[in-house]
Amino acid sequence: MLYVILLVGILCSAHVSGCDRNCADKPVFTPSRLVVKYGDPVAANCSVCENCLDLFGLETPLGEQNKTGTMISWKAPKMIEWHSAPSCYYTKKDSDDQCCSTLPITVYHKPRLQGSPHFQITIKAGSPLLLNCSAWGNPSPSYSWTLPSGSPHSSSSNVLTIDSVASADGGLYTCSVSNSRGTINVEFNVTVEEINIILIIGIVVVAVAVVAVGGLFYWRYQTNGKICSRLLP
Ligand SMILES: *[C@@H]1O[C@H](CO)[C@@H](O)[C@H](O)[C@H]1NC(C)=O
Ligand SMILES: *[C@@H]1O[C@H](CO)[C@@H](O)[C@H](O)[C@H]1NC(C)=O
Ligand SMILES: *[C@@H]1O[C@H](CO)[C@@H](O)[C@H](O)[C@H]1NC(C)=O
Repeated sequence: MLYVILLVGILCSAHVSGCDRNCADKPVFTPSRLVVKYGDPVAANCSVCENCLDLFGLETPLGEQNKTGTMISWKAPKMIEWHSAPSCYYTKKDSDDQCCSTLPITVYHKPRLQGSPHFQITIKAGSPLLLNCSAWGNPSPSYSWTLPSGSPHSSSSNVLTIDSVASADGGLYTCSVSNSRGTINVEFNVTVEEINIILIIGIVVVAVAVVAVGGLFYWRYQTNGKICSRLLP
């Protein structure tokens, strides 16, 4: 009984200790590393030594594999895992230790806009403005903004905000998103409406006109009345 517990303990600790990456006769990946565009196909082979055939395999999150002799060939039609490192291993003879190699894969993508922001924006003067140019990509993209005047904005964030827009803030804003794999330019055309002021001026003009016309009629009525009362005593 004690022996079984000990054995299970040893097996578990062997498993937990993981695999040895510094052993002799490590499995060999061909190619030894991969750099691939997100969504593109990937393929690699792993070979183990002739006397390592007891128990060998390949751990990978995606794709399919075939074993032929001392080699495992692996391929996936679309690389859609950002962080994955397939691991090729064999179990060492007369022990439970594993000897393994990993295949480093760098997955890249040029920046791509997230969501569907509005590129034509009409906004009332005095309202807050938020331009959102969030993009994804690998390596993580960086952002820079150009104002309608053509001068750069200090923001290096994915959003540009103006607390209260004035008509002078209208025009074409450009957000430039880039990483080592590419750059995209996103344009926002902002129209600032001075609708409130025009409306207020309009209401004031109409009100003044109504009062003036009313006053004129009243004056004429008063005057006529006085004239009439003078003519008809
Ligand atoms: C893997 O090995 C097979 C058979 O030798 C070969 O046809 C294939 O091109 C190899 N694949 C890679 C990615 O090296
Ligand atoms: C595995 O073998 C099947 C059938 O021969 C073949 O269609 C498939 O492409 C092979 N996969 C790899 C990764 O070589
Ligand atoms: C910007 O857009 C992204 C993607 O649509 C969204 O996840 C994020 O919350 C937005 N940010 C702001 C401040 O609205």
